[in-house]
Amino acid sequence: MADTSQKPNTKGLYIKTYGCQANVYDSERMRDVLKPLGYAPVDSPEAAELVVINTCHIREKATEKVFSELGRLRDLKQANGGTLRIAVAGCVAQAEGEEIMRREPAVDMVVGPQSYHRLPEMIARLSRKTGDVLETDFAAEEKFDALPKTRDVSGASAFLAVQEGCDKFCTFCVVPYTRGAEFSRGADAIIAEARELARQGVKEIVLIGQNVNAWHGAAPAHDGRGGEWGLGDLIRHVAKIGGVERIRYTTSHPRDMADDLLGAHRDVEQLAPFLHLPVQAGSDRILKAMNRQHTAADYLRIIERARAARPDIAFASDFIVGFPGESDADFEATLQLVRDVGFAQAYSFKYSPRPGTPAAGMQLQVAEAIKDERLARLQSLLNAQAQAFNDATIGRKISVLFSRDGRRDGQALGYSPYMQSVHVDGGAHMTGRMAEIEIVGATMTSLKGRLVAATAEATA
Ligand code: 5AD
Ligand code: SF4
Repeated sequence: MADTSQKPNTKGLYIKTYGCQANVYDSERMRDVLKPLGYAPVDSPEAAELVVINTCHIREKATEKVFSELGRLRDLKQANGGTLRIAVAGCVAQAEGEEIMRREPAVDMVVGPQSYHRLPEMIARLSRKTGDVLETDFAAEEKFDALPKTRDVSGASAFLAVQEGCDKFCTFCVVPYTRGAEFSRGADAIIAEARELARQGVKEIVLIGQNVNAWHGAAPAHDGRGGEWGLGDLIRHVAKIGGVERIRYTTSHPRDMADDLLGAHRDVEQLAPFLHLPVQAGSDRILKAMNRQHTAADYLRIIERARAARPDIAFASDFIVGFPGESDADFEATLQLVRDVGFAQAYSFKYSPRPGTPAAGMQLQVAEAIKDERLARLQSLLNAQAQAFNDATIGRKISVLFSRDGRRDGQALGYSPYMQSVHVDGGAHMTGRMAEIEIVGATMTSLKGRLVAATAEATA
């Protein structure tokens, strides 16, 4: 738990996070950056001196939330006599910074995803009333060098950013414009951060990046072999750090699914047998219009290679329905691909035109009613697959990392290697631990587990 009781001389900091894991990581790092200035997390905007809205620009709905949230904060600022500081961070800040400053004068600072290490100087400029309070440079390297080497984490699982940005330019996506070009952090810095997390008791490290499997870097001197490392090599080295019991990585692109990564799935015991590999669509015509740079057959081949490396591997994916020009036959091809693979989990979305992306200006935009109908059909297939996958775990013993208390009294909530949430009654003492759990029930979204007698004794 974050310490929410404000100490004398500390200033309340409230960060509201929208969007992907990268934003969750960035919010944590903003807390680390602001800590030396006396900012400590509080539970509500009302208790804060500084509120940061860490925004998401990926779909229209996500972006709309920002301005309604800012309206509420403006009222709060007026009510407390104007002393509250409001900062907008994240991808909407990057894409629409000037517009935010113009439309909502209550906003004091706008800071993009590669510039938040500059928050302390921005706050100083703000109190001196000098200089710019809008920072949207693309300098991922500088950011990582400038961030504090210590991390303040409290849970059993933590994100570790290894890669940023994207050069793929899928025609529907804003990420290459908001997060900038692909950048891989150096292996030594990543391993040092992983050690720091393990030292603080973190058991699961989730390596994150918009194109995490594009990560590459010079082999550190201690490797002895020289040359380049890929994500598979990095995973092998993170696995050697004492206390690291589980490793995951997300999100990957089919183009970058290299042999060394599949080899890590074969060899590294702690690497979860789970691959989140967005495919977006199953029609080659649509994949081409999306500029995905792979076909449906390429995708199915990767699935085969992954299964050959690790037979118990499970797959998750992202889908977009109603991309411009998508016909009934194209949509059928998506359903067919889903049937061919069999997914454990999936995220599916209606295509949302994003300003400045090529697809937004394409002919043959699909009517909303058709998008709704396709999304419902796709989700009912994916939901049935998720239910079947979860049902198949009943009666098995699987390792669960317990992250926090469940909703019911005495209940613990944890995650399986397949990212299923697992509820265990009478397991409250398990928080922060990893244990073998017998699965006794399943819904589409979660599992029910029972402490195995030996585990309960060993960990009591
Ligand atoms: N419309 C709908 N979904 C989108 N995604 C990205 N851009 C859009 C868009 N314009 C989805 C993709 C991606 C996930 C993070 O969000 O499926 O993998
Ligand atoms: Fe967006 Fe495509 Fe890059 Fe993923 S690979 S972040 S969908 S442009």
